Amino acid sequence: PPALDTPAKPAPINSPAATTAFSPKAPADADISHLDLTQLATQVSTCRKCPLCESRTQTVFGEGSPQARLMFIGEGPGSEEDLQARPFMGEAGQLLNQMIQAMQFTRDEVYLANVVKCRPPDRRPPSEEESQTCLPYLDRQINLIRPRVIVLLGAVPLKAMFNLTGINSQHGQWQEYKGIPTMPTFHPAYLMRMPKKKRDAWEDLQKVMRVLGKDPADTPSRR
Ligand code: URA
Repeated sequence: PPALDTPAKPAPINSPAATTAFSPKAPADADISHLDLTQLATQVSTCRKCPLCESRTQTVFGEGSPQARLMFIGEGPGSEEDLQARPFMGEAGQLLNQMIQAMQFTRDEVYLANVVKCRPPDRRPPSEEESQTCLPYLDRQINLIRPRVIVLLGAVPLKAMFNLTGINSQHGQWQEYKGIPTMPTFHPAYLMRMPKKKRDAWEDLQKVMRVLGKDPADTPSRR
């Protein structure tokens, strides 16, 4: 398989303290079903539906081609993403870039989003309640983009979108989300800690490539 290895990176910078107050009644019931991507991003930027608004520097809406055939869904922003307001900018993002490249796509061609749009404090994963509170935003993104295939990165999107646990047994098994073929695989941050799992992840990604008309044999081996 491609090596999918990640160069070393300096330690993340600490983010400024947050100022916004958690206000669960704020735009919680606002109808977002008519919003386009730009309007939705604006709505998200002022969201106070869950306590993560208090620890964020800024929201991380997602980015990429609105016509993407391939969409990746991660768990939520880390410190680098929180500072830059862009998804997958840290070390895990560098590995994700290599995964995208190995799949014969460019980062511009795909769409990257997360279950939650605000960085959880202390590098913890988002809670199930935070995920469910934020999910309507992701659902609207998916409905606007309507990708041909969705790739779920790790346990958080698998739980939030399918109420499934056990990424080790579920990875590589096609699911369907709102009619869209969806492939769960490992999160790149996990793959950095468990490089032996990269081979399994590559097999999952090859299944996706075949659906999208890409021949994995055409991906140059980096070994
Ligand atoms: N990890 C994620 O799940 N999402 C990001 O945007 C960055 C790191």
